[in-house]
Amino acid sequence: MLGMRRNPLRGLNHLFELGHNPAFCLLPSAYSNTGDPMIERDFYTVYGTPPQVVVRAPGRVNLIGEHTDYNDGFVLPAAIDRSIAFAGRKRADRLVRVHSLDFDGSVEFNLEDIQKDGKNSWSNFIRGVSKYLEEDGHRLAGADIVFGGNVPREAGLSSSAAVEVGTAAFWKNLLHLDVDPVYLVKLSRKAENQFVGVPCGIMDQFISALGRENHALFLDCRDLAYRHVPLRDNVKIVVCNSGVKRALAQSEYEVRLKQCRQAVAQIASTGLAVKSLRDVKPADLEAARSVLSGILYRRARHVVTENHRVLEAVKVLESGDIERFGQLMNASHESLRDDYEVSSKELDVLVELAWKQPGVLGARMTGAGFGGCTVNLVRQDAAEAFAEAVRRGYEDALGLKAEIYIFKASQGALSV
Ligand code: GLA
Repeated sequence: MLGMRRNPLRGLNHLFELGHNPAFCLLPSAYSNTGDPMIERDFYTVYGTPPQVVVRAPGRVNLIGEHTDYNDGFVLPAAIDRSIAFAGRKRADRLVRVHSLDFDGSVEFNLEDIQKDGKNSWSNFIRGVSKYLEEDGHRLAGADIVFGGNVPREAGLSSSAAVEVGTAAFWKNLLHLDVDPVYLVKLSRKAENQFVGVPCGIMDQFISALGRENHALFLDCRDLAYRHVPLRDNVKIVVCNSGVKRALAQSEYEVRLKQCRQAVAQIASTGLAVKSLRDVKPADLEAARSVLSGILYRRARHVVTENHRVLEAVKVLESGDIERFGQLMNASHESLRDDYEVSSKELDVLVELAWKQPGVLGARMTGAGFGGCTVNLVRQDAAEAFAEAVRRGYEDALGLKAEIYIFKASQGALSV
């Protein structure tokens, strides 16, 4: 798991082959220049010289607005205080050498010809972002890079988006690229969609880049207008990791994407001018019900009602009505479970346990579903007891161990 920083010397055999001397040496403090001692030390250990640039990109938890981003809808995620750090230094040639602390492996590629790596698939996020920057005319320099962090992997907390956005932020800082953060967000998503081949929406890259400390981010995924919404410090964001890897997530995600497109086409066939489910009002959906199959109607109903929930959630969060916010989270879970059918037994058990605990305002699955995590809004003074009760209850019910995190909303990699 990414959360554990291992001995960075493990898995460096291929660096021997590349002619490096990975003898462990502590970074002399006089060399420290980026203020991020752990990753600096790791870089020094691998390459024997201090890094020029260090950046960090956080993972995310989505508070509400699930499976709405690829329907041009609304989302309300927060960046978490778990991140992927990148340290690097320019080279004089066009070679990029990357060492992953968490995968214990190294790769190298030439900027003249960036290809997908079938073996070290963790490097494809970095390759993809680098390739599309080059294709857009940003001439990159060769670089030596070390990266690693503590965003739990395959848990629905967007460790991949953090690697993409971290790569983009790394190149921006190393080469002083004068580019808009939203351009880098779009490019990071393109890397995931087209280079890695995962058809995600834009939410994860957006929040990893533009999150703000102690705030959630309200994003309109159609025009990418956004604003930060303050989170009160009398409530905690508690995330319960079911420990179940999101096995079906990608194939079922693609099925949902197609079903949403089909629903739009069928609703449009009734004469309504709709481009995406974002344009469908609850009354339109009812009017078009007869042209939709039962499944497509329920998929569309989730997206249509979820968009409304996000709009109301932002309003009540801003007005301080945190109880209502919690109710909207609960309704979101029911809709994801019953209409969108992306929850799982484990996620439902975690949510139902949460609903019974004192001090809980709301609980729901978060992210794509089929495993991964739940997000819970819990009164500050009840958070520790909540975590303990859910951990115990989950083990009693399913014999499984949940990891529980109390997150603090954090700054994105490209926020100013
Ligand atoms: C994944 C995708 C996001 C979003 C969520 C579901 O995290 O990467 O773009 O679609 O699922 O809300």
